[in-house]
Amino acid sequence: MFKRSIIVMAIGLSLGVQAAGTLTKDNGAPVGDNQNSITAGPNGSTLLQDVHLIQKLQRFARERIPERVVHARGTGAHGEFVASADLSDQTVASLFAAAGKTTPVFVRFSTVIHGNHSPETLRDPRGFAVKFYTDQGNWDLVGNNLPVFFIRDAIKFPDMVHSLKPSPVNNMQDPNRFFDFFSHDGTATHMLTQLYHDIGIPASYRQMDGFGVHAYKFVNEAGEVRYVKFNWRSQQGVKGLSLDEAAKVQSSDFNHLTRDLYAAINAGDLPKWDLYIQTITPAQLNSFSYNPLDATKIWPDVPEVKVGTMTLNRMPDNFFQETEQAAFAPGNLVPGIEPSEDRLLQGRIFSYSDTQLYRLGANHQQLPINRPLVAVNSNNQDGAANSGNTKSNVNYEPSRVEPKGALTTARAVTTALNGTVQQQTIDKTDNFSQAGALYRAYSKKEKDNLIRNLAADLGQVTDSATKHAMLSYFYKADADYGSRITKAVKGDLATVKQLAAQL
Ligand code: HEM
Repeated sequence: MFKRSIIVMAIGLSLGVQAAGTLTKDNGAPVGDNQNSITAGPNGSTLLQDVHLIQKLQRFARERIPERVVHARGTGAHGEFVASADLSDQTVASLFAAAGKTTPVFVRFSTVIHGNHSPETLRDPRGFAVKFYTDQGNWDLVGNNLPVFFIRDAIKFPDMVHSLKPSPVNNMQDPNRFFDFFSHDGTATHMLTQLYHDIGIPASYRQMDGFGVHAYKFVNEAGEVRYVKFNWRSQQGVKGLSLDEAAKVQSSDFNHLTRDLYAAINAGDLPKWDLYIQTITPAQLNSFSYNPLDATKIWPDVPEVKVGTMTLNRMPDNFFQETEQAAFAPGNLVPGIEPSEDRLLQGRIFSYSDTQLYRLGANHQQLPINRPLVAVNSNNQDGAANSGNTKSNVNYEPSRVEPKGALTTARAVTTALNGTVQQQTIDKTDNFSQAGALYRAYSKKEKDNLIRNLAADLGQVTDSATKHAMLSYFYKADADYGSRITKAVKGDLATVKQLAAQL
């Protein structure tokens, strides 16, 4: 063996085979000179034959891909999820089949509105996206650090994001624009009361909870359905920054969230989150004062049951190849977990894969970070950058040559329907009760900071009708809340009360 490798090395050297570590072009051929272009003599022009120079410039010019249209700035980590309960009575999802069952995960935390490399100290919801590489394919639970959302219908998402993104005229974010959008009805009141709490600027990604926000459906072997919400609870606790603390952090480090995650995990201080579920039966859907499938609502009276723990334990080797190319999609579901009828979620089921086909290409699910651990037998074919290793002649179904069976437990659950095709808002919108309850549950300091944080943005709004409409929503949620924020932004309380009385 020893002699043989010496002989191989000797042949290699004599043939000029490069050693590991040799600088190469993309075709693997060695580079002869990485300092000087090939020129026509000492003073002549550069030659077109300089493939290395041309390739370097071409590849450099193509290094950027479109950034995510939202959630552009983020950071990811690998880890594992260990189930703590056997949920097979509720779902055929195999990751919950036995206590102790371990499933690898990749998690990406993110800010929402501003671009890649924007400061991480800005007020924003934070993304909390988890890809579970299960033995039934990938399940993506694409959530946020706040338990509710601004809107309840996907048709408003592009409008809302446009209002929150920097202005198309001067490229600066402007509270006049987003409050102009939010002031037309009170749908966002609960979310804004969450977001303007100090947790709207997390101290670290480790110190925030995560929420699936929507209800999904658990389906068991008998085809029984339970609506389920997924809530991550941080074992590190939850900590946000006040405006003063955030300003101080930003003056020294606008990457505090990314830096903290790399530092902690690389030092072996591994963050953990417990996963809790809340479940209700379809028969219970109409028994609440709110609509449980409305993404602006939490389920305050439904108990949380712990179902597992996630530990993040390894940072990516390469940011772009893993974190930037990670594609989380609410449509990546596994048998036993289905979308609920929540119309915000229904829009998301379409939107993510669609944007990823554009952002990353037709074969993005073949990239190592997105590839399922199980074999993919989808019969999908070709497309740009296809790195599959498909050997079969049968790329269709059914086939006698190579039968591929569908799994009946993965079939969509049978659901009764009635009513009409329509375009109407949901019943029981109740935009204010949960916002008021949240305000009243805050401590004195939390209330003080909420008012200050909110006034910092609402106080910039110059249009009186916009400002007073927003104030009336906070007043409707809670009179003390509305009165205090009215005073803080120098609004007219009589006008606020009059508007609130009409809601
Ligand atoms: C109809 C409403 C929504 C639409 C249309 C929508 C659309 C999008 C799109 C297009 C992306 C970029 C995906 C990519 O390029 O890979 C994205 C990212 C994201 N969205 Fe949404 N979104 C919606 C609501 C929500 C809600 C309610 C949540 C939280 C529960 C959420 C959480 C996230 C997260 C965490 C990411 C980043 C995923 C990652 O880290 O790559 N979105 N969203």
